[in-house]
Amino acid sequence: MSNEKRLVRHLLLATLATFELQSALAGDVAAARTKVQTLCQVCHGFDGVAVLPGAANLSGQQREYLVTQLRAFRSGSRVEAQMSVVAKTLSDVDIENLAEWYAAIKVSVEMPKE
Ligand code: HEC
Repeated sequence: MSNEKRLVRHLLLATLATFELQSALAGDVAAARTKVQTLCQVCHGFDGVAVLPGAANLSGQQREYLVTQLRAFRSGSRVEAQMSVVAKTLSDVDIENLAEWYAAIKVSVEMPKE
């Protein structure tokens, strides 16, 4: 096998491995619904538009970002009185599912008029 072919094969396998990893990590939107309703919507809204001043809008946020922040609140590397309490109750699967829920909500933006 030529070096070029070997390289292409290597890249293809690496891409496939990344893809499989991402699918394995992808959360389940349907499974998140109850958690959203019982744990999150009081502050962040069912649709991710925050109802509590000081809470973040979550709709359309990047899935990876949501996962990172929820893990940070859970581990204590990011601290906020309310979120730190809520995040401690979440499992890894809960975090993946909740991130998938809020990331899956489609948002559109409108630029301010200059
Ligand atoms: C009692 C109100 C409250 C509840 C309930 C709550 N949050 Fe929060 N959340 C906040 C506040 C306030 C912040 C802003 C934290 C800060 O200032 O650092 C926040 C921040 C976040 C952030 C970080 C956003 C960013 O832009 O960095 C995420 C992600 C998040 N919440 C997800 C959730 C999820 C998922 C749930 C349900 C499991 C939940 N929150 C429940 C109040 C709440």
